Amino acid sequence: MKYYKLVVPCHMGLEAVLKREITDLGYDVTQVSDGRVSFAGDADAVCRANICLRTAERVLIKIGSFTATSYEELFQGTKDLPLEEFIPADGKLWVTKASSVKSALFSPSDIQRVMKKAMVERMKAAYHKEIIPETGLEFPIRVFLYKDEVTVALDSTGMSLHKRGYRKLESKAPIAENLAAALIMLTPWKADRILIDPFCGSGTIPIEAAMIAAGVAPGMHRDFNAKAWTHLIDPGNWTDVIEECEDNIDLNVETDIQGYDIDPDMIAIARINAEKAGVGDLIHFQARDVADLSHRKKYGFIITNPPYGERIGEKEDLYSLYRTLGRRYKALDDWSMYMITSFEDAQKALGKNADKNRKIYNGMIKTYFYQYLGAKPPRRRDTAGERHE
Ligand SMILES: C[S@@+](CC[C@H](N)C(=O)[O-])C[C@H]1O[C@@H](n2cnc3c(N)ncnc32)[C@H](O)[C@@H]1O
Repeated sequence: MKYYKLVVPCHMGLEAVLKREITDLGYDVTQVSDGRVSFAGDADAVCRANICLRTAERVLIKIGSFTATSYEELFQGTKDLPLEEFIPADGKLWVTKASSVKSALFSPSDIQRVMKKAMVERMKAAYHKEIIPETGLEFPIRVFLYKDEVTVALDSTGMSLHKRGYRKLESKAPIAENLAAALIMLTPWKADRILIDPFCGSGTIPIEAAMIAAGVAPGMHRDFNAKAWTHLIDPGNWTDVIEECEDNIDLNVETDIQGYDIDPDMIAIARINAEKAGVGDLIHFQARDVADLSHRKKYGFIITNPPYGERIGEKEDLYSLYRTLGRRYKALDDWSMYMITSFEDAQKALGKNADKNRKIYNGMIKTYFYQYLGAKPPRRRDTAGERHE
């Protein structure tokens, strides 16, 4: 069985959640670095990681790495990579993205151009050809330079993994699906606990929570680059993983997941998206101002992404919006609240400092995930005397 070195990028600040997901799938993580987690796996692992990981951005198959501080070294290092072990003679190959941190070489376009030339040279020599036709399957390659170490990998995913396929319609400032899933997974929320997103927009947080509750794998209804690479991955591997995922779905799970938004158009969009994700029956959506937020039960969770002010809403209105949220939260009995925002005065406006706080990059925007921890429900004993949370 052939083993690959797999590199999985994620949002900066969420490496620990992704690491836990990979470990839960049964793989040994070999390295964790800024915005990336690595592990080794076979063809099945490539399918499983693409279909099942909720917090990943994509799954890369590492071809190799080397050091380069000049374009000559970059050319030679690339030419030494065993491309032919992954790419057939007629494969179309190009560097789709190059990124560089703390390295002598930093121009993405120059890195892409030099590497393309070197890759063509390698393919010509490996396949004893004068010309590489590039008329066959596509092999997009991603490159990252960190402290002059060049890592070269095939992109097995294609369109980013946050695109699950259910969000055809969006709010003006939607949160990425993989970020929403990671936020939920950073909390102790479980399917049997109440969850409300009072600023749900197109429904991403409630939908991701419902998918977690029902065991719906995030990548079940989308395509991946590597599906076409049948010389590396048998098509049976994909169907096996999908069938296993289908068996794991439980749409009868009891949930209390609610999504509110002041904008009724958003609520209509959220309902459509939830239906598309297959979890429409597990979420209650309602047009409601955060000023009217209430719940009669104890020990619930607010997990939310309120307006930041960068993209929507006026900065001046934000303070009073967060103050209202703070008041409504205070009136809830023993609830926890988890909130991602880049609004600097969020804690001040809320009237309370968070118990915990985590820096997360949402694209280029530095945000904080504020965590207000409520009381845990009392443990109860069942008839067999076993204790439950
Ligand atoms: C950053 S967006 C949330 C995006 C959402 N997470 C998504 O993925 O689509 C903030 C949402 O807050 C809503 N909003 C603004 N003021 C509100 C209020 N007073 N009460 C409830 N919702 C409000 C907006 O309509 C907007 O959809």
